[in-house]
Amino acid sequence: MKKILATGGTGYIGSHTVIELINDGYEVDIIDNLFNSKITVLDQIEKITGKRPTFFQADLLDEAKLDEIFRDGHYDTVIHFAGLKAVGESVEKPLEYYHNNITGTVYLLEAMKKYGVHEIVFSSSATVYGVQDNPEFVETMTTGMNLTNPYGRTKYFIEEIMKDYAIADPEFKATLLRYFNPIGAHESGLIGEDPNGIPNNLMPIIMCVAEGRIDKLHIYGDDYPTADGTCRRDYIHVVDLAKGHVAAIEHMKNGVEIYNLGTGTPTSVKEMVAAFEKASGKELPCEITGRRAGDLAEMWANADKAKRELGWQTTLNVDDAMRDTINYLNKVKE
Ligand code: NAD
Ligand code: UFG
Repeated sequence: MKKILATGGTGYIGSHTVIELINDGYEVDIIDNLFNSKITVLDQIEKITGKRPTFFQADLLDEAKLDEIFRDGHYDTVIHFAGLKAVGESVEKPLEYYHNNITGTVYLLEAMKKYGVHEIVFSSSATVYGVQDNPEFVETMTTGMNLTNPYGRTKYFIEEIMKDYAIADPEFKATLLRYFNPIGAHESGLIGEDPNGIPNNLMPIIMCVAEGRIDKLHIYGDDYPTADGTCRRDYIHVVDLAKGHVAAIEHMKNGVEIYNLGTGTPTSVKEMVAAFEKASGKELPCEITGRRAGDLAEMWANADKAKRELGWQTTLNVDDAMRDTINYLNKVKE
């Protein structure tokens, strides 16, 4: 069984993936600086799986510490979740985003090279597609054009760095997973999305409104060319997404492989609100406001390649994600 190092493994997607890996028998270590996650996640992982992963509280930018971790760890594979991810903040602080996300990745690849670790799975994003004529995004589409923010560019640049590095090292295997919109929580209710600070994305904002921490959801525009006028996205349950990483680890190939991880089915903002209200039995205060700059009317994944080559497909839907989110919110309050 491969031994895995998960960077950013106490974060939202990382923690759910670590659980699926441990459940499948993998040994997983985590490195995270806890900038956007909490140490208590380790207790929850242990409660769910019966195993506590080895944890290094360290920054990827700390080269000496990274060297030590790789020297002693004897890893087969790295899953690289660690990164800053707030789109708006990246516009305000581009250098911090480039330094953290890109320099952090270069240091990671250098440590992998030094200690003979050849496999990496990288958390990329649908954001690399930018603006396309067709809202169904396929891996073969051109990327990096019309990107609207530094966060998205860090994902695009890191993908390109991986491709360049694969040319130089024939043993290198990189799988780039382009996530669509992850939502939901573990069915135990013990872990879920718990960002530090004010969230930017739809689902954490809905959670804050439900908890009364924000007074209402601002729906950013209802005059888009969609059936109900609100934007449509491909919301993927985080546990399905986590299982996509396990499938990727089992199918690593030489060179760079790219997979969309999404459901293939878009849901509008109004449909998301209705799904949350149905699952919670409560009305969610909303107000239609103006469009948010940079939003596409609609986009969703063509996830055929992941189904064909990884044998992976989603099994959970938006209603499942809403149920699990509400269960998580209730458990947090206990
Ligand atoms: P998250 O913020 O919950 O997790 C990221 C983790 O990385 C955090 O625990 C943070 O403390 C850690 N981290 C950040 N910089 C670090 C550094 N320099 N050294 C060590 N640890 C560091 O985010 P998430 O939602 O779990 O996202 C995981 C990855 O997936 C990110 O790379 C993100 O960009 C990508 N992604 C997320 C989404 C989404 O909507 N959540 C969509 C597409 C891609
Ligand atoms: N929305 C609202 N009100 C809010 C927040 C969001 O109406 O308060 C709407 C947005 O306008 C959009 C939809 O909800 O139509 C989803 O917005 P998110 O911010 O949750 O997600 P995005 O699709 O805009 O982008 C996110 C990440 C990107 C990433 C993309 C796909 O921020 O970096 O998912 O992974 F590329």
